[in-house]
Amino acid sequence: MTPGAQPNCASGVQNQDMEKVARSVAHCEIKFLKMSEIGVRVAEHYNSLQEKGLEERTKSRIFYLRNFNNWIKSMLIGDILQKVKADGARDISVLDIGCGKGGDLLKWKKGDISHLVCTDIAGTSIEQCQQRFDSMNQRRNFHRHNFPSFSAEFITADSTKTRLKSLYKKENTFFNIVSCQFAFHYCFESYSQVDQMLQNASECLKPGGYFIGSTTDSCEIVKRLKASDDLSYGNDVYRITFNEKDKFSLFGAQYNFHLTEVVDCPEFLVYFPALIEIAKKYDLEFVFKTRFDDYFNECTKNADSRKLNDARQLLGRMQALETFPPFEEKDLASALPEDYKNAKDELEKLQSEGESCRKIGTLSLAEWEAATLYVVFAFRKLPKGVKRKRDDIEDSEEQARKQ
Ligand SMILES: C[S@@+](CC[C@H](N)C(=O)[O-])C[C@H]1O[C@@H](n2cnc3c(N)ncnc32)[C@H](O)[C@@H]1O
Repeated sequence: MTPGAQPNCASGVQNQDMEKVARSVAHCEIKFLKMSEIGVRVAEHYNSLQEKGLEERTKSRIFYLRNFNNWIKSMLIGDILQKVKADGARDISVLDIGCGKGGDLLKWKKGDISHLVCTDIAGTSIEQCQQRFDSMNQRRNFHRHNFPSFSAEFITADSTKTRLKSLYKKENTFFNIVSCQFAFHYCFESYSQVDQMLQNASECLKPGGYFIGSTTDSCEIVKRLKASDDLSYGNDVYRITFNEKDKFSLFGAQYNFHLTEVVDCPEFLVYFPALIEIAKKYDLEFVFKTRFDDYFNECTKNADSRKLNDARQLLGRMQALETFPPFEEKDLASALPEDYKNAKDELEKLQSEGESCRKIGTLSLAEWEAATLYVVFAFRKLPKGVKRKRDDIEDSEEQARKQ
């Protein structure tokens, strides 16, 4: 298993610098940016995307990238479900913010949850998500499957500008997990939108529950911009275009993201140190932020043998990597030989070391470059009482330093 390339993790922006700025974010008066109509554009874009059948999807240039991204989400969701179950949670409730057309419904079903609230800014996507959920249940009844079933509700709302709590069917809705997959970056348009998003993520989350997601890696995005000769960079799979190269505001640092066939929208750099600071306001404690390539390695190379086995089997079942060299009757996803140079080198290396493998799993370099623009993250809602104690400890440490 070796993806097309393994870019360096070094970021263009120093983490320490980012943390310094983040500290100032927490204390300075934050200027609220004017609300723009970007949300409307984003909703229109996702509403206009056509649902494609399986045959169409397999012909897509980014078939494996999409499967790979789905695999990453499956691993993250599986991991967190395991944690909340180990903490003793039963009848698990989940909020999926920016659920789209319901790409994660099956994952929640397999995770044996009890209730799911799906919300998205795009009304057509929510309708399609609900249809998908209904037909999933019909299939279950028809085949008399023993698959667990869960209840669900569907809400069209801008999670960066609306308080979701007032829209849930039951007043006392609480979640074990809040998930925001490939959507969090949209809230970094302004401070108030990040704030509203985090309030939504946290206020109905049970103490000890998790806020998880996948989003863009601003360090990597800026690093590639700095390395580029102009304001735009990418390959035949993705393209990122900025208006400027040197100055980025904490919020509203906009660029256009194009991912072939699926995304063409304004997005915003997610400034993680600021996010971590604002999250504290809502009792959300930062747990981890891991680049997709590191997370892939964690799951497939550095885990215990059972997890490793599960992860590898799932990679195969989800067709999350492309077979190189391809089977006779198949074409590779990319026609460019350089897209498979790393895979070819890796295979030759393995063979020269005496391994008997004749094929390996990979992603074309162009797809791998797109996959490595992302991170998975997790925050945990502090159990009641812990925040107060932490604040007290920090205060007394501060006082001790002054003395
Ligand atoms: C790339 S799609 C991801 C969909 C789904 N989470 C998945 O992983 O398949 C991003 C989704 O975020 C939604 N979105 C963008 N801005 C949003 C906002 N302000 N509030 C709620 N949803 C939003 C879009 O409509 C779109 O469905």
